[in-house]
Amino acid sequence: LGILIAPAEAQTYPTRSITMIVPFAAGGPTDVVARIVTGHMAQTLGQSIIIENVVGAGGTTATTRAARAANDGYTLITGHMGTHAASVPLYPKLAYHPEKDFEPIALLAGTPILILARKDFPPKDLKEFVAYVKANAEKVNAAHAGVGSVSHVSCELLHSILDIKPVGVPFNGTGPAMNALVAGQVDYMCDQIVNAVPQINAGTIKAYAIATPERNPSLPNVPTTAEAGLPKFQAQAWNAMFAPKGTSPAIVASLNAAASKALDDETVKKRLLELGSVIPTPAERTPEALATLVRNEIAKWTPVLKPAT
Ligand code: MLT
Repeated sequence: LGILIAPAEAQTYPTRSITMIVPFAAGGPTDVVARIVTGHMAQTLGQSIIIENVVGAGGTTATTRAARAANDGYTLITGHMGTHAASVPLYPKLAYHPEKDFEPIALLAGTPILILARKDFPPKDLKEFVAYVKANAEKVNAAHAGVGSVSHVSCELLHSILDIKPVGVPFNGTGPAMNALVAGQVDYMCDQIVNAVPQINAGTIKAYAIATPERNPSLPNVPTTAEAGLPKFQAQAWNAMFAPKGTSPAIVASLNAAASKALDDETVKKRLLELGSVIPTPAERTPEALATLVRNEIAKWTPVLKPAT
């Protein structure tokens, strides 16, 4: 009976490839998480999922495009704490609202933030970093992925704690920003762990601290900000999948089930954990839980970021 009364689209969806918009450059944390998860989802759904990197304006250009796309389940977006929360206070003329213009599908990953620097940046540890950037606030620069991106917002928080305003250097994502850090073209960055683990392990950049209460198993030698002397700086971002508002509940349910199945897959889990991300529990993966997260994150970041604009 269930099959007989199920909406027709749920029985057939998807009948063609799906486009997954990634609002930052290829090779960055959002792109990496989206590719890992959608690679498995495509097997479950029996259709390919094509990643389209659409860059600009801290991810808001792509998110606007996703909000305006047809709500037929064939255009989705992997958004994050920036595009679907921090953008609200930072862009007074934002052309979308994360809550009103999207159907939440599933939380994909938690991504702790690290304070990273070019390999030859003089400070040796976090205490020296704090003293150095305070003393040289006019000279140092911080790379980020555009206003409202996670890297921008996280370093804004760090800078407000340190009471400094160094120059920001924007990129189309922290993939390219990381290349500049490795090349020594920028001084430091507050980036998501997914982007950082391979470079830290290769010794191409410095990691001063991870801004979470516990150390991360993928980086056991990197101290927490509390251990390293800056307990006030706590930051963890997240990646999540959304569809344009009005996408049918049946399609959302089938995408949610495929995303959750991907997160339970041993290979997917291993890859995400190796990169330091935090895999959401089943309770955290529901569309309702994601709606609550978005609402709470907007409420959390609005007072922090409003004075900075
Ligand atoms: C990216 O994928 O490049 C990042 O998520 C950018 C950011 O928000 O810092």
